[in-house]
Amino acid sequence: MPCLLGIDLGTQSVKSVVLDDQGRIRAVAQAEYPILTPRVGWAEQDPTAWWRATCQTTQEAIAAAHIAPGDIAGVGLSGQMHGTVCLDREGLPVRPAIIWADGRSATEVEELVAELGRERLARLTANPLAAGFMAATARWLLRHEPETLARSATLVLPKDYIRLRLTRQVGTDVTDAASTLLFDVAGRRWSEEMARAVGIRPDLLPRVHDSHELCGTVTRHAARDTGLPLHAPVVAGGGDQPVGAVGNGVTAPGTLLATIGTGGQLFTPLEAPSYDPQLRTHTFCHAVPGRWFIMGAMLSAGLCLRWLRDQVFGGLGLDYAAFSAEAAQVEPGAEGLVFLPYLLGERTPHMDARARGVFFGLALRHERKHIVRAVMEGVAFALRDSLEIFRSIGASARQILAAGGGARSPVWRQILADVFGTPLAPVEAAEPAACGAAILAGVGTGVFASPEQGAARVARLGPTVEPIAANVALYDERHAFFRSLYPRFREAYRQLPT
Ligand code: XUL
Repeated sequence: MPCLLGIDLGTQSVKSVVLDDQGRIRAVAQAEYPILTPRVGWAEQDPTAWWRATCQTTQEAIAAAHIAPGDIAGVGLSGQMHGTVCLDREGLPVRPAIIWADGRSATEVEELVAELGRERLARLTANPLAAGFMAATARWLLRHEPETLARSATLVLPKDYIRLRLTRQVGTDVTDAASTLLFDVAGRRWSEEMARAVGIRPDLLPRVHDSHELCGTVTRHAARDTGLPLHAPVVAGGGDQPVGAVGNGVTAPGTLLATIGTGGQLFTPLEAPSYDPQLRTHTFCHAVPGRWFIMGAMLSAGLCLRWLRDQVFGGLGLDYAAFSAEAAQVEPGAEGLVFLPYLLGERTPHMDARARGVFFGLALRHERKHIVRAVMEGVAFALRDSLEIFRSIGASARQILAAGGGARSPVWRQILADVFGTPLAPVEAAEPAACGAAILAGVGTGVFASPEQGAARVARLGPTVEPIAANVALYDERHAFFRSLYPRFREAYRQLPT
């Protein structure tokens, strides 16, 4: 039976998944690697550590799947977006990768936005610029490490380094290229104008493929290190958000996906590239040919609950099921406690790296369960901010799906349906990004006729959660209050002593 290998190069770990042509996951293997922080606010990774972890997980997944290596018909990739890997002429990394979570280029972001003006930035890229995106990192390198750029022959994104090691082919794909802000998202090609505005040579930008496009085959070296068959075809792959959407079955307009993972996202595919003129959301190319997507991106969603568990209630042995049970004991509205989930600053809707988390309204009567419920509600309110932007620019949907670890909590799911005021269907799909990568490999090798066909075999919908009318009315009011808080703290964030 033909199988496909999907590799998802995440921020904390890589996962390799073997998927068969019926959409069944035959094996999953995962290996972690560190985020290097040589200075406060910096986030780097060693590309060779990515490669070692990929070799390990690929070998483990093939062994655990009990298939002959020759059964792997194709390999696909998904990866953390926005970051920069500088490669020399031999394809060797010139320095550690500067990843999306790196904040060193905050000044360069302000500078580039001031130089370009928001309208020109919008016209050229359809997107807001954030620290850690390749355009901002490249400007930082130009200023602080010009020798790095001088030694670089190409700039690629993280998962492209893995494809290079697998195939010896340098390149990227439209979804990841879009996430650099050096890309003309509407035209699906590099923007020389942006490269010039940033100050880098346009020839540093590699060839761009569609995500399902074949762009090389596994070399002898890579076959030895990964256990993959020699000459197995490798497709371009894409960024973890669009590829994860494929794995969740979100390929065409009309469906909106709300994800509560480490971060939170609201995502809907587009037939044509429209964007928010106020640049509060992202518009990037989808991993489905000829489509785009709009995305509201929250930096900390599930992460807020993990922070509560580990840093605030650490040592009490609480798990997420215990948190859900506690939140269920509290009435909607958490007895007046409101949480702003900006532990890492925020992208949508504020695009403000200086924003911080706030518990507002703490009172003596509040217990742990109120704090947990307020956190769940705060994350849902922040996703509703994205929903309102989508609606204001006409990116509406017939159906809203919920995914990610947070959506597995029935309480959080109900809160989301009530805060959105719409029915929600949970997607039951394991490892959506790695499976999405495998689906794209299936499309590129003819195992699947289309991303839709592959996705239909992988993603199933659970029972719909209906909103509760009384909660919807209450949350409408509470969301309006939630929304009124950030503008009042905006200045104070800037005065916050650090
Ligand atoms: C998307 C984003 C993250 C990264 C890391 O805009 O920043 O999803 O791709 O996974």
